[in-house]
Amino acid sequence: MSVPEYQDHGPLQITSSLNLDNLVGKSVIVTGGASGLGKAYAQVFAKAGAYVTIGDFNEKAGKETVAEIAGNVQFVKCDVRNWDDQVRMFEAAVSSSPHKSCDVVIANAGIVGADDLYQLQDPSLPPVKPDLRIIEINLIGMVYTTKLALHYFRRQRLVPERDRCLILKASVAAYVDQPGSPQQWGIRGLMRNLRRTAWKESIRVNLVAPWFVRTPILDQGIQDFLDGKGVGFATVDDACTAMLKIASDTTVNGRAIGIVHRKEAPEGYMDLDRDDYKEGDALKEWQEVVLDTALRIVS
Ligand SMILES: NC(=O)c1ccc[n+]([C@@H]2O[C@H](COP(=O)([O-])OP(=O)(O)OC[C@H]3O[C@@H](n4cnc5c(N)ncnc54)[C@H](O)[C@@H]3O)[C@@H](O)[C@H]2O)c1
Repeated sequence: MSVPEYQDHGPLQITSSLNLDNLVGKSVIVTGGASGLGKAYAQVFAKAGAYVTIGDFNEKAGKETVAEIAGNVQFVKCDVRNWDDQVRMFEAAVSSSPHKSCDVVIANAGIVGADDLYQLQDPSLPPVKPDLRIIEINLIGMVYTTKLALHYFRRQRLVPERDRCLILKASVAAYVDQPGSPQQWGIRGLMRNLRRTAWKESIRVNLVAPWFVRTPILDQGIQDFLDGKGVGFATVDDACTAMLKIASDTTVNGRAIGIVHRKEAPEGYMDLDRDDYKEGDALKEWQEVVLDTALRIVS
């Protein structure tokens, strides 16, 4: 299997048909898979015949999820901030899966909450070091997952026909100005940093950006506020379909897929098409120069 060189080839065309045959026997890691979207991803990938490893720091919910799914799934207690925990999760995925492999990695774990970076303190008092927990979980944790995904994917180079895919979870907040969410732009940056080079190892890298979805992460007060404004929610089911599409369609590389309300897209997900440069844009030309130069600087 070879992944085509990343090119600004325009948005992914969404069709309603999915062929999930190539997910059978695949080893899929889902971080944050004990609740909400991650739990639903674990369920649908297991149903499609994949072997799922859930990594989550909520042990009770993780074990309950495994009992609910029954078969084709294991739970590994893992705090994504902890490198050793993540190594254990990847090792468990490889050793327990039917082909001793690591094929699809969904970096999904995350939290929301007040971000210390933006809390204003009394300027007459000494400055207070911010608590950067959100960035540590949602961004640094994802960087660890990415580093390990590339490592374990590359071990499988000897089996070239085996597709490997990393899916980074961001948010629509990676495409709008939202105070308190620099990590979302960091995740978007991570996808764009990787998509023009990872294909050389036949590795696909994509991003999902959910709009608001009713899961435990959004407390009732926020849901009521959004309902009061008449804002429609995206759904867990459509997020699952989008994940299955990205994981099973080996032509999807370097795209950012928004999980959206159905009034925006009939399937509930769409290519956001905000990460490519149009013909004539100076950035398109600069991109080529920067890519050539960067490879000399960072290699
Ligand atoms: N629901 C939405 O509206 C929405 C929108 C945009 C993005 N997201 C993102 O989607 C992802 C899934 O969210 P959800 O809506 O299913 O929320 P959720 O709270 O139901 O699930 C998040 C899961 O991540 C786990 N987790 C948190 N910190 C962790 C850590 N340090 N290590 C390991 N696991 C950890 C939690 O235990 C939980 O199981 C999150 O990253 C969230 O930020 C959600």
